[in-house]
Amino acid sequence: MSATPLSTSSTAPEVITSSVQVRHLDYFFGRGDLRKQVLFDISLDLHPGQIVIMTGPSGSGKTTLLTLIGALRSASEGSLQVLGKELVGMGNRQLVDIRRNIGFIFQAHNLFESLTAAQNVEMAVELTGNFRGKRQLAVDILSQVGLAERADYKPAALSGGQKQRVAIARALVNQPQLILADEPTAALDKKSGRDVVTLMQHLADEKGCTILMVTHDNRILDVADRIINLVDGRLESDESPQQFVDSHIPKSLDQKMFIM
Ligand SMILES: Nc1ncnc2c1ncn2[C@@H]1O[C@H](COP(=O)(O)OP(=O)(O)OP(=O)(O)O)[C@@H](O)[C@H]1O
Ligand SMILES: [Mg+2]
Repeated sequence: MSATPLSTSSTAPEVITSSVQVRHLDYFFGRGDLRKQVLFDISLDLHPGQIVIMTGPSGSGKTTLLTLIGALRSASEGSLQVLGKELVGMGNRQLVDIRRNIGFIFQAHNLFESLTAAQNVEMAVELTGNFRGKRQLAVDILSQVGLAERADYKPAALSGGQKQRVAIARALVNQPQLILADEPTAALDKKSGRDVVTLMQHLADEKGCTILMVTHDNRILDVADRIINLVDGRLESDESPQQFVDSHIPKSLDQKMFIM
């Protein structure tokens, strides 16, 4: 399948550098009479090294878009290129392969209760075939999210926020090219939230990771290169954090979204 040109601008030919390139993506839940469209004509580019925050009211389609980009559900209308591969029309086995290059941080953290924090992270490292260095990598990343002293605790002995940070460490330990996060800091205090975001910034700046993060957490809006706003399944705006704050009438938005 040929790639859609990124731009029709006549000034300079644009090199395709997107990690994620979405074109005219529609998405429906249900069948027959129950079929309901939840995403409408989404077009979007995410570039290496960028942190993009996605906001929008509850039910606007944020998680749905995230799971489509993450190859966790299959799209059938439009084009969705992720890390150079077209996902629309792709079979399940291939979707699984795509997922291996993506770090997911979702609210249900799905830690293994019988394994310690470090072992949970080590399991992710093992998937890359690295067995000898796994303990060190796990301990290093756990200390970066403030859990050095909790590395050998099992989830049952950790708080909700600590479990969330273990899941974040597990998602980031292999430095995936694409990181998709759904409200990653919601359960965290200010310091832990900032540690997590600092780690993400490091991955974006130093490793060129692309990060798409759903959040209403006004404490971390400053890390974004862009803020996109989804309303009723449509991409309403795509702006810098400052433009976003300037261009939105406070009353029309969730108050938490723009107090910086
Ligand atoms: N599995 C499903 N089957 C049918 N409809 C669904 C399903 N999952 C979500 N929806 C509907 O799709 C719409 C978008 O849901 P989605 O979870 O993407 O919203 P969201 O923006 O992530 O909301 P929130 O901020 O509350 O997490 C909603 O109307 C929701 O009810
Ligand atoms: Mg959601």
